[in-house]
Amino acid sequence: MELLKANDLVKRFGKMTAVNGINFHIEEGRCVSLLGPNGAGKTTTLKMLSGLLQPTSGSMEFNGEKAKDLRPFIGYLPQYPAFYNWMSGKEFLVFTGQLAKLSRKEAEKRSEELLERVGLTNAKKRSIGGYSGGMRQRLGLAQALIHRPKLLILDEPVSALDPLGRREVLDMMREIKQETTILFSTHVLHDAEEISDDILIMHDGEIAISGSIGTVINKYQQPILQIEFESQVDDWLKTIESYSFISEVTIEGHKASIVLNDIVNGKQTLLKEIVDRKLPVRKFEIAQTTLEDLFMKVVKA
Ligand SMILES: Nc1ncnc2c1ncn2[C@@H]1O[C@H](COP(=O)(O)OP(=O)(O)OP(=O)(O)O)[C@@H](O)[C@H]1O
Ligand SMILES: [Mg+2]
Repeated sequence: MELLKANDLVKRFGKMTAVNGINFHIEEGRCVSLLGPNGAGKTTTLKMLSGLLQPTSGSMEFNGEKAKDLRPFIGYLPQYPAFYNWMSGKEFLVFTGQLAKLSRKEAEKRSEELLERVGLTNAKKRSIGGYSGGMRQRLGLAQALIHRPKLLILDEPVSALDPLGRREVLDMMREIKQETTILFSTHVLHDAEEISDDILIMHDGEIAISGSIGTVINKYQQPILQIEFESQVDDWLKTIESYSFISEVTIEGHKASIVLNDIVNGKQTLLKEIVDRKLPVRKFEIAQTTLEDLFMKVVKA
């Protein structure tokens, strides 16, 4: 079922267009990653969905109905969350619960549940000022879940964390996605591949590619030859660029990545040339382009 739909969303800041008419939808129960380089428009998009920014034009639908204010349905963790460092974790959650219109009693109960859920029960009385980065993000997750939202929106939830904190938060997201639809932004492809079902790749305020990870990879994946030499063979690599079975050659020092249209022909011809010319090959490997290659292609376009 379609939970959220964005219709031609546009956001301009003066003359600057941050989001340029995007259309997408999010299915209930999915974990969706919004990928894009710095300045792509991710935060602006998420803020519009969360009701923190008014779109310049366009509309949003929630559960098939046009909605102006999605705040009751959405939990939001900003890219740079601000906490009151003097509050304890528990006090902060009760406070946000009350802001989300829970009664004091409900807020207390829900806070305890969530502290347990994000593994902060033992730290609940400590002031937030002494929390690690990972603990702060987990508290942020709890805060976003306080009013049992249908959709959890997380803006770069792991970007600022060290590997340990990153692991803690990703594991937590994996648990949360069992029961809550998640939309999160990231510029780390690995994280997107690891936990999301669907991806939206944004570039220059537009959605360049969208779909389930499997479909996107199948649709855009191409065979690629990775060849490593003992010394530079740029002259030869330049000559093969014009071959009909080759769509792209990228040279990096002694290594070359060659995207092929025709794997059988490509492999045989190139191997033969390498042998005939006695080129100093160290490694010859056939692989498939990854999501990272696709991302780089979109971003450089
Ligand atoms: N309040 C604002 N006023 C003017 N320009 C803004 C404002 N907010 C964002 N922008 C511009 O809009 C564009 C998109 O910004 P946005 O923060 O949405 O990108 P992002 O994809 O979240 O980037 P990052 O990966 O750095 O977080 C950028 O060029 C940014 O400078
Ligand atoms: Mg951002």
